[in-house]
Amino acid sequence: MKKIISPSLLSCDFLNIEKELSYFEGQKDFWFHLDIMDGHFVPNLTFGKPIIKMISKKTKLPLDAHLMVTNPAFHLKELKDCGLHNITFHLEAHNTPEELVSLAKEHYSSVGISIKPKTKVSEISLSLLKKIDLILVMSVEPGFGGQKFMPESIEKIKELDNLRKEHQLSFIIQVDGGISDQNSKDLYQAGADNLVAGSYVFKGGAQAYIDNVESLRKV
Ligand code: DX5
Ligand code: ZN
Repeated sequence: MKKIISPSLLSCDFLNIEKELSYFEGQKDFWFHLDIMDGHFVPNLTFGKPIIKMISKKTKLPLDAHLMVTNPAFHLKELKDCGLHNITFHLEAHNTPEELVSLAKEHYSSVGISIKPKTKVSEISLSLLKKIDLILVMSVEPGFGGQKFMPESIEKIKELDNLRKEHQLSFIIQVDGGISDQNSKDLYQAGADNLVAGSYVFKGGAQAYIDNVESLRKV
């Protein structure tokens, strides 16, 4: 499988978002990552439906939503007509995640589950793993960009990759938080398919963005 790079728009210049999006048009194996925070599940607040709808009108590239919210059921319903490619909610935010995945599947072609750094892989049931399209391993505490990568996440990726092989599953392994060209190769080697990066991609001015993305593609 081709590796997918997902710049997190949390780190882009939001007042010039149309321009920021345009620099990436034509990219292949590429999704924009949207961090949706409710100020409750995480101590930060970002954006919701009106902004996401505007973003979806300004780019043809796939959009990947990462819900860091206490009530994912509400947001899953709310965002169903925003043209999202994938939507991910946190395992820690719902008591019956399998049911919520089934509900989400009615509206989205790809549904993911995310785990925070303290959540173990063993807390995800095999039946849930069989249902999802993507698992997001957080390599920082969710809430803010620009934090330091937590190397413990590598073991979790390996565990998930082994489970995937053992049970012939097909979920994508996405990793998010503190990613740069310093850890990307280790992440791929562990089994990651999709790297999310915010501060690393949106650094050095617009002329550097594509080079930053390309540097993360090196396997
Ligand atoms: C953090 C978000 C990330 C964040 C990553 O809660 O989920 O997507 O934007 O930012 P960096 O790459 O700067 O760690
Ligand atoms: Zn994210």
